[in-house]
Amino acid sequence: MDKGLNNSRKDFPILDQQVNGEPLVYLDNAATTQKPNQVLKTIVSYYQNDNANVHRGVHTLAERATDHYEAARDKVAEFINAANRKSIVYTRSTTESLNWVASSFGNLVVNEGDEIVISQLEHHSNIVPWQQVAQKQHATLKYIDLTTDGELDMDSARRQITDKTKIVAIAQAANVMGVVNPIKELAQIAHQHGAYMIADGAQAAPHMKIDVQDLDVDFYAFSGHKMLAPTGIGVLYGKQDLLEMMPPVQFGGEMIDFVHHQDASWTELPWKFEAGTPNISGAIALGSAIDYLTKLGMDNIHAYEHELVAYTLPKLLAVDGVTVYGPHDPNKHTGVLAFNMAGLHPHDVATGLDMEGVAVRAGHHCAQPLMEYLNVTATARASFYFYNTQADADKFIQAVTAVKEFFADGIS
Ligand SMILES: Cc1ncc(COP(=O)(O)O)c(C=O)c1O
Repeated sequence: MDKGLNNSRKDFPILDQQVNGEPLVYLDNAATTQKPNQVLKTIVSYYQNDNANVHRGVHTLAERATDHYEAARDKVAEFINAANRKSIVYTRSTTESLNWVASSFGNLVVNEGDEIVISQLEHHSNIVPWQQVAQKQHATLKYIDLTTDGELDMDSARRQITDKTKIVAIAQAANVMGVVNPIKELAQIAHQHGAYMIADGAQAAPHMKIDVQDLDVDFYAFSGHKMLAPTGIGVLYGKQDLLEMMPPVQFGGEMIDFVHHQDASWTELPWKFEAGTPNISGAIALGSAIDYLTKLGMDNIHAYEHELVAYTLPKLLAVDGVTVYGPHDPNKHTGVLAFNMAGLHPHDVATGLDMEGVAVRAGHHCAQPLMEYLNVTATARASFYFYNTQADADKFIQAVTAVKEFFADGIS
């Protein structure tokens, strides 16, 4: 465990540095992950050897760039077990994917008096786009409550999802509460009522095996940068028949079949949604990130992170004055640990930890309705990935204790 899963730490040179005179302990992986040499090399190699625009040239470089870009799509399809590569649309991020589903598909199927159901633990990017649809269509936005443990309350889910529901949109893994939501069961409930199921996979796809066909979700969104790829590349998976009926969101080059002076027709899936020059190197790098993750094995990644959480969570809970959000049972908790320290602002906690070389996030984590629900303004958050070690966990706990003592001394 000292070198990360399968000795992977060596592939991430960024981790080998000092911050404020201390070895860096990077625990902000829910915000973005670091990139291994293999992914960085793919980007450099693409620009050194193959760079050209895709789908429009017949010259050799254009063909090579197109082949790499489309091969990465096949890797994405396999990674989430999509039935068909046409179901994989490249976007900029989870945020863009969810915005596209909401503004295009949402406005198509939601009508006046209908209901959209989300939950109290959602990220803003799975709240605000649905608020926009609800406002535009005169529909109602409803929230599934949480249990006292911070898990999704499935009784509340069964009450909120009714025959009036058109969309159910839920995070598969929560970015603050550190829980995995039963998406398959939610999809069944949604479908029984004739509603569509949309899963926000931003915190799930990087950490566990995803099978969109088994989950039976209608749409699934995730971001490359949270799973070793660069920023600016994301994925929207959609069932093919639904993507077929969904109008394009952006218009211009690449996405057309034919343009007349007054109107135009669209090309086939998935390019119908990919207007303009896409993030070619980002998509190819995402393919490389998927190769890396697949080699490690998603089940191994999941098990390794679970071990880290089982080691860290009890130690964090044992620090006097620390509140950890979400379930306290490590078997129910992902590698996202949101916490507060009595009498301290989370920003002071994060600054104090940074002085010890430990990088964590502090703030509302783009989940203000959840903060309101929990009756806090913000939390600190440590989040693990497979290159973190038990030594990282020890340093984190030691740094939390040091911060507590520093402020206690300062106050007394
Ligand atoms: C659960 C969840 N959904 C959506 C997002 C948005 O991801 P992005 O900023 O990559 O679009 C995040 C980012 O932290 C997230 O944690």
